[in-house]
Amino acid sequence: MRELQAPKGVSEYFPPRSQYFEFVRETLIESARKSGYQLMELPVFEDTELFKRGVGESTDVVSKEMYTFEDRGGRSLTLRPEGTAGVMRSVIENKLDKLTLPVKVWYSGAFFRAERPQAGRYRQFYQVGIEAIGLNDPEIDFEVIAVADRAFKKLGLKSYRLEITSLGDATSRASHRKDLVAYLSNLKLDEATLARAALNPLRLFDDKRPEIQEEMSGAPLLLDYLSTESAESFARVQELLTAAKIAFTINPRMVRGLDYYTGTTFEFVSDKLGAQSGIGGGGRYDGLMAELGGSDLSGIGFGLGVDRVLLACEAEGLFDSTTNKSELDLFIVALSSTEKAFVSNLLNDLRNAGVACDMAYGDRALKGAMKSADKSGARFSAVIGSDEIKSGTVALKDMNTGVSKEVRISTLSAEFQAN
Ligand code: HAM
Repeated sequence: MRELQAPKGVSEYFPPRSQYFEFVRETLIESARKSGYQLMELPVFEDTELFKRGVGESTDVVSKEMYTFEDRGGRSLTLRPEGTAGVMRSVIENKLDKLTLPVKVWYSGAFFRAERPQAGRYRQFYQVGIEAIGLNDPEIDFEVIAVADRAFKKLGLKSYRLEITSLGDATSRASHRKDLVAYLSNLKLDEATLARAALNPLRLFDDKRPEIQEEMSGAPLLLDYLSTESAESFARVQELLTAAKIAFTINPRMVRGLDYYTGTTFEFVSDKLGAQSGIGGGGRYDGLMAELGGSDLSGIGFGLGVDRVLLACEAEGLFDSTTNKSELDLFIVALSSTEKAFVSNLLNDLRNAGVACDMAYGDRALKGAMKSADKSGARFSAVIGSDEIKSGTVALKDMNTGVSKEVRISTLSAEFQAN
């Protein structure tokens, strides 16, 4: 029989490493929650049209990397390559934009891009994201960046940097586009590159080929074309970051991989990862909601790559085996098989009462069972034999100090609830 394997390039997490993955994801989510963001749980697949219109046909994500399939009803569906378009679709469809603004939501889950797999780049990967919709205000731009930065600092990350830029408003982009297109018309570009440029000339800043990078070195930069309003807003974001002691550099050549960005745009980059060093990124997307058929509200958000943040934490040596270890209160060992049923019932009662506990299953000798108690990381252990059942008391052993105390079995749950 053929040996079954996970599909190529997907990330997966299992014990013991999954405890670190969970810790990273929860820390990122907690930062969002503590700033007033609420959960949005969205479908993993959407109408293909949503991403074509939302993310943009000039992007690699849409033109080369989507997992698109036809369902049994002949509809074209796509596994979500990113989260923002889905959030906007849901906000429009469920009329959340009619509620108090801004709508502030977070999401977490798997995303899919058919990229060439390599360290830190997967075909199924995980993001924690936030979106703040309905407010065009530098204060909220700052808030979004700070939520990410606070999460990274809480994890203990040090070797990362924040790059920011502004892609301006429609006026800024229109005047820049005119000059950029004129500049590009003097270059010798192949058909495919010209086609990309026609869809979105900014894409050429992101072209990895050295000859194109060389050609683009003198190209006009959008940052020099900001309207007064955009420039003021961008300056205010920088003031707020400086006041909050969040270090940043301005990268006027930053091109995000998705087409919907406007205004403040940013990326967090780890110095400890190789080529795939982007641990998170985001920005403002004024116009996306209208493009998707909703009202013309602005928004800003980010997506943080949980897989890459985990790799960065590991590269910085932030975890040891005690990080996020599942904390059991109690591990019970039955002295012989005769007491198994009693222990099993006791365990169930304790769990019903909210005590985190486990037992040694199977017919293992006492020594082996005690090893399981040790490995479980439980704070206390107890061995139950016929004497304990008769007397109704048990020696509760503190696994850290090795000290035991006698406790009535009937009061065990109260013992742990008090602790
Ligand atoms: P993005 O920059 O495409 O933005 O992705 C955000 C983060 O997801 C990246 O910085 C990276 O850490 C992680 N990531 C992306 N692709 C992969 C991959 N193939 N393997 C592993 N990690 C990956 C967005 O997705 C936007 N929706 C973010 C956003 C929200 N902008 C505004 N609101």
